[in-house]
Amino acid sequence: MKRLAGKVALVTGGGAGLGRGMADRFCAEGASVAILEIKPDITHDFERANTAQGYEALGIVGNVTQPESVRAAVAQCISRWGRLDALVNNAGVTGASHADLVDLDLSDWNRVLEVNLTGALICTQHAAPAIRDAGGGSIINMTSISARTTYPSRGAYSVSKAALESLTLQASIELAKWKIRVNSMSLGWFRTALNEDTYQIPGELAKRNLTVPIGRIGTLEDCANLAVFLAGDESTYLTGESIELDGGLIAAALKSTGLLARIRPVTE
Ligand SMILES: NC(=O)c1ccc[n+]([C@@H]2O[C@H](COP(=O)([O-])OP(=O)(O)OC[C@H]3O[C@@H](n4cnc5c(N)ncnc54)[C@H](O)[C@@H]3O)[C@@H](O)[C@H]2O)c1
Repeated sequence: MKRLAGKVALVTGGGAGLGRGMADRFCAEGASVAILEIKPDITHDFERANTAQGYEALGIVGNVTQPESVRAAVAQCISRWGRLDALVNNAGVTGASHADLVDLDLSDWNRVLEVNLTGALICTQHAAPAIRDAGGGSIINMTSISARTTYPSRGAYSVSKAALESLTLQASIELAKWKIRVNSMSLGWFRTALNEDTYQIPGELAKRNLTVPIGRIGTLEDCANLAVFLAGDESTYLTGESIELDGGLIAAALKSTGLLARIRPVTE
């Protein structure tokens, strides 16, 4: 039995990178999957490629920051498949400006928060009633370890992800009455178009692989594995959590600050 058989999922920004990895995997696990994606070519490619494999896939071109676009996407899921069980708030941007906060262009700050935070709120507002009508389900917010650390010269991104973690908590309590679980996947280092400029720096990939305690950066499969667990019925008692999918990066950072040593019992 496939792990998401009978479920309907909406993945935002599902045309590329981690979103595409999750959307493809959801299809392979038996779900009917729609993506809401701003770039038309990759939106159509998702639908074409998965339909060709006999999966139920729908590519919807739209923008998570526009309520009408999101409303229409949820309506399309309901009209085609009659229900919605899971939403992945994955669409995200880092911002164009590489500047510290004091020099940050306000329009860039606003855009990052609009997509990463307000977009997730808008999608939650429109998807939650539909998930409630299906008897409950799951909302997954894609956050980042930069919510707990920093992202050099990309402060708006870190702040947006920290706020999204807070949105996860708030929504998890408010939506529990509808049996909707809301969790964050707090990701470490993955290589996608979002950060390809970083991986173009000679030696950067090798350096990162050495830094991650598990010995490598994450893969699309690592990300999709956790998303399937959170979207499916194996996680029905899990809500309001932020799960660090980072190969041990945050654990190592905490250890190196001595924080763990301080909170461990002295007898250890
Ligand atoms: N790649 C990493 O290392 C990493 C680490 C931590 C968190 N994340 C988070 O994971 C998520 C996916 O990241 P990725 O690395 O796959 O990025 P990506 O740039 O490869 O993919 C993001 C997708 O979102 C789409 N998108 C952007 N704005 C949109 C909008 N307004 N409406 C609809 N679609 C929109 C893009 O077109 C793109 O297809 C993001 O939220 C990102 O912040 C990524």
